[in-house]
Amino acid sequence: MANMKPNPNPTIKYSKIFINNEWHSSVSGKEFPVINPSNEKVIIQVAEADKADVDIAVAAARAAFKRGAAWRKMDASARGEMIRKLADLLDENASELASIQSLENGKPFANSFEEVQRSAKVFRYYAGCVDKIHGSTIPADGDVFVMTRKEPLGVVGAIIPWNYPVTMVGMKLGPALATGCTIVLKPAEQTPLTALYIANLTKEAGFPKGVLNVVPGYGDPAGSALAEHLDVNKVAFTGSVGVGKKIMEISARSNLKRVTLELGGKSPLVVFDDADLELAVTYTTLAFLNAGQICLAPTRIFVQSSIYDKFVSMVVNRASSLKVGGPFEPDAFYGSQIDDRIFKKVLDYIEIGKREGAKLETGGNRHGSVGFFVQPTVFSNVRDDMTIAKEEIFGPVQSLFKFDTLEEVIKRANNTSYGLASGVFTKSLDIALEFSKAIEAGTVWVNQWFKLTGQTPFGGYKQSGIGRELGIEALDNYMEVKTINIKLPSNH
Ligand code: NAI
Ligand code: MG
Repeated sequence: MANMKPNPNPTIKYSKIFINNEWHSSVSGKEFPVINPSNEKVIIQVAEADKADVDIAVAAARAAFKRGAAWRKMDASARGEMIRKLADLLDENASELASIQSLENGKPFANSFEEVQRSAKVFRYYAGCVDKIHGSTIPADGDVFVMTRKEPLGVVGAIIPWNYPVTMVGMKLGPALATGCTIVLKPAEQTPLTALYIANLTKEAGFPKGVLNVVPGYGDPAGSALAEHLDVNKVAFTGSVGVGKKIMEISARSNLKRVTLELGGKSPLVVFDDADLELAVTYTTLAFLNAGQICLAPTRIFVQSSIYDKFVSMVVNRASSLKVGGPFEPDAFYGSQIDDRIFKKVLDYIEIGKREGAKLETGGNRHGSVGFFVQPTVFSNVRDDMTIAKEEIFGPVQSLFKFDTLEEVIKRANNTSYGLASGVFTKSLDIALEFSKAIEAGTVWVNQWFKLTGQTPFGGYKQSGIGRELGIEALDNYMEVKTINIKLPSNH
């Protein structure tokens, strides 16, 4: 495993549109700036894709998917080897890629480095799946022999956000490549550099031209052109609920392309009075990781009334001791918000929380005067009907609620339009199991939080999304099932 070598000034080698394993300027000639959110300075100008470039990229992906194309003819095991090679290249280049991610995203280098390693593991998981994707034989009625084949959907449009750029590339590319699809990836406008870097690694790993194409650009026009495209078979999206809904609408209007969505949450973490409180505090602190810009952040912390006051003071102590800092400050727990817009949105929510009567325990302001940093902020006495209890803040803001009974907290935890993640801290197996069964969320963590690996399916109930990513389950979202029904000569 490579050693961590942070580089605050990495050379940016890839800043153009990636189509057919080549680098292109945009058809329009336009470029857009990528900004370092920790110092608000421009890192580099990147070619800006719009509809014309998306059309070219989709045509390249379609050509790579055609019958007889190298990618279609390749043995499944060879495809697996190629994905494994990509994983190796991610590990070999982890320091450089992590440095680039920290520069464009603002998160601490150590977090970025770990993210690259986790992404490599996700690719390895899917590399192992490739030649284990089985159809079935079915004892169907009649004189027939019936089998099913699972076939790749075709051209996948992947639209990803800026909060975990490298992770998102792995979550989308892993299953898409494993099933034999081809891809047009639109990274978030804030963080295109990591996706472009990984594009170059796919070329190095030997993927045929057109299998992966990357179109940096804005949601509208680049993302929407991909969602509209009649020759795209599926869109895999991670981001806001509003854009997710738009993508479904566009799919319905255009060609009924398959849609999977991962749209964030308002995830409840419930602490019972028999829990290991130190452990619970450590995990609740993960609400601040990535400056709180995490779809699965524990943003509603329900604490049993007998331990409420004690737990609040433990949380406040821990939160106020966290170091906020730039991406290359070695002991920073989290860095800046991604941009000016999200920064203002977070500060607005803090004002709304105060106005609606939640008790501000610590933080509440900007940290420093340059870069989009927000102090670790904790609200206690939060009521379920407050805005900060209902809406996704996407910032380093914790909200603490008080509860008495299991039945009560199940009802309140489920009283949300979201359903991505949840967690319970208790030593009682009965409570843990009862909660796990009753909660309406795609993931339940017991006495922990944020355990997410290649093997474990992840996704949302309700408006947190549609479909699952990671795990074997994700593969089905990239395949069609074909039934082959053969007449037999007689009923012997
Ligand atoms: P967004 O949903 O606008 O952006 C996510 C991706 O969608 C980006 O690549 C963007 O370019 C693209 N996009 C935007 N508009 C599009 C359109 N009309 N058609 C196709 N693609 C489009 O999210 P944004 O504005 O960056 O953040 C707003 C809020 O969304 C955050 O405060 C947070 O609450 C939530 N969010 C949730 C994420 C998650 O992990 N589930 C990630 C990012 C944001
Ligand atoms: Mg947006």
